[in-house]
Amino acid sequence: MADKISVLFTEEQVCARIKEMGEQISKDYEGKSLHLVGILKGATFFACELAKRITVPVTLDFMSVSSYGDSTVSSGIVKINKDLDEPIEGLDVLVVEDIVDTGNTLSYLLDNLQKRGSASVKLCTLLNKPERRLKEVDVDYTGFIIPDEFVVGYGLDYAQKYRNLPYIGIVETK
Ligand code: IMP
Ligand code: MG
Repeated sequence: MADKISVLFTEEQVCARIKEMGEQISKDYEGKSLHLVGILKGATFFACELAKRITVPVTLDFMSVSSYGDSTVSSGIVKINKDLDEPIEGLDVLVVEDIVDTGNTLSYLLDNLQKRGSASVKLCTLLNKPERRLKEVDVDYTGFIIPDEFVVGYGLDYAQKYRNLPYIGIVETK
């Protein structure tokens, strides 16, 4: 049976917010270059749209991480499946993520990247679920703060499905 998905943010709302975020980031990094690190696979749609809205010089790299355990419960142990292609020494790095949920993935990842000699490491996430946080994470840019619901679309999946939805929706599990 098809899952029931209700719209949380329309495509127009998501695009408008990403445009605002791009403008803010461009201001904050004026006179610098920015190295975007997108986290596969969920952040790819967001990272590409955001990159197009940033006016300072941008380079892009991607990393793939997963937490051990099943897909809906985060175990806190993070594995790097694909590391960065290029070293980040001396660069201003902006990690681009789809969602910060428990914070397990990002607290590990930011710690890992901070040890690689970059000039700075900041975090930009499209969605933020602060109610679910288990580990403290400094989020520098948040698209939308959302309640404790399982969301899909704009890169986010439910069992690898729905990443291609152009909007963000809530999967009805009840
Ligand atoms: P963490 O719990 O903050 O470590 O988040 C781990 C990962 O779980 C995120 O990067 C997402 O890929 C995934 N995730 C967390 N919440 C959701 C959700 O509501 N929908 C889809 N994926 C999610
Ligand atoms: Mg993710």
